Amino acid sequence: MAKIGNIDVGDFPLLLAPMEDVSDPPFRALCKEQGADVVFTEFISSEGLIRDAAKSTMKLDIYEKERPVGIQIFGANLESMLQSVEIVEKSGPDIIDINFGCPVKKVVSKGAGAGILKDIDLMVSLTEAMVKHTKLPVTVKTRLGWDHDSIKIIEVAERLQDVGCQAISIHGRTRAQMYKGEADWRPIAEVKNNPRMHIPVFGNGDVDTPERAMEMRDQYGLDGAMIGRASIGYPWFFREVKHYFETGEHLPPPSMKERLDAARRHLQMAIDWKGEKLGVFETRRHYTNYFKGIPHFKEYRMKMVTSDDSKDVFDAFDEVEREFADYEFA
Ligand SMILES: Cc1cc2nc3c(=O)[nH]c(=O)nc-3n(C[C@H](O)[C@H](O)[C@H](O)COP(=O)(O)O)c2cc1C
Repeated sequence: MAKIGNIDVGDFPLLLAPMEDVSDPPFRALCKEQGADVVFTEFISSEGLIRDAAKSTMKLDIYEKERPVGIQIFGANLESMLQSVEIVEKSGPDIIDINFGCPVKKVVSKGAGAGILKDIDLMVSLTEAMVKHTKLPVTVKTRLGWDHDSIKIIEVAERLQDVGCQAISIHGRTRAQMYKGEADWRPIAEVKNNPRMHIPVFGNGDVDTPERAMEMRDQYGLDGAMIGRASIGYPWFFREVKHYFETGEHLPPPSMKERLDAARRHLQMAIDWKGEKLGVFETRRHYTNYFKGIPHFKEYRMKMVTSDDSKDVFDAFDEVEREFADYEFA
C-alpha cells in the first residue's frame, strides 16, 4: 500500500501526470472517474503566482471530487517558492509537487524545472525549505538527470527523501533527451531498490498500454505509474489498466455513447470553469483521441476544432451521434 505522507493512495496507484494545458480540473475529474488514484495540476509558475497573474491563479482551482490532488509549482528562487507555497495552500490541495523536470528552454534557462538538475544542492535545499514551510506533503517530479553523463538519480532521490520529500516521480529520460527515444526505467528501479529508500517511487514515461503498466509494477518493482500522454483524450486508459491488473484481460474500448458523453461533459465542465471562449479552445486537443479510428472523420473533427462557438461543437457531437451511432471501435 503506497502512502504519500498520511494519504493512502492504494496498491500500485495510477497517477495522472501534470500536463500543461491538459491536466485542468475538467480533465482531471474525468480521469478520476475512470480510476486515476492521484491527479496533479499542470505546472504553475511561482513567479506568476506571487505576481497574482490571473493565468497562474486560475490554475489553482480544484474540485472536491478529484481528491487527492497535487498542485505542481516550479521556480528556482527560494523566496518566490516559499511565498507561492502559502498561496497554493489557500486552494486546499492534498499535496504540493515541485517540478524539477520540465525541459523547455524558457524554464530551464532560469534554472527552474530540469534546469535545477545542474545544481543538485539547490534542488535539495529548495525542497527542504518548502517541506519546512508547509504541513502538506511535498513531492518531487524529476528526470533521470541533466544528460546521460550526469545521471545521479539514486543520490538525488536519497537526498530529497532525507530532507522530507514524501514521494518522488521519475520520468525515465534525461533533460537532453527531451521526449526523444524511449524512457529507461532501469535507473528508476535502482532508486527503488536502494535499501535506504522508503518513500514511494513512481515511474513515468511511455506507459501506454496496460501491459507496460504491469511491467512497471512486476518487473521494475515500482510503487505506482504516472501516466501522461496515453490519457490525453482517453481518460479510459486508467480503467483499462486497472481491469487488466484485476483480470489479466483487456476491456473492450469505450463505446461511441461513452465517448460522446465524455466529450460533451468535458466541454460543458470546461465552459463552466473557464468560460465559453477558453472552454471551447482548451478542449480541442482531446477530440482527436476521443474519436480516434473512425474513418472519414476529418469533416466532423474540423467542425469541433475550428468554431469558437460551443453550440457548433455540441452540434458536431450530435451529428457524429447520428452518423456513427453503431460504429464499433477496434
Ligand atoms: C502536453 C504536455 C504537457 C506537459 N506539462 C508538464 C507539466 O506541466 N509538468 C510536468 O511535470 N510535466 C509535464 N509534462 C511531462 C509529463 O508529465 C510526463 O512526464 C511525460 O509526458 C512523460 O510521460 P508519458 O510518456 O506518460 O506522457 C508534459 C507533457 C506533455 C505531453
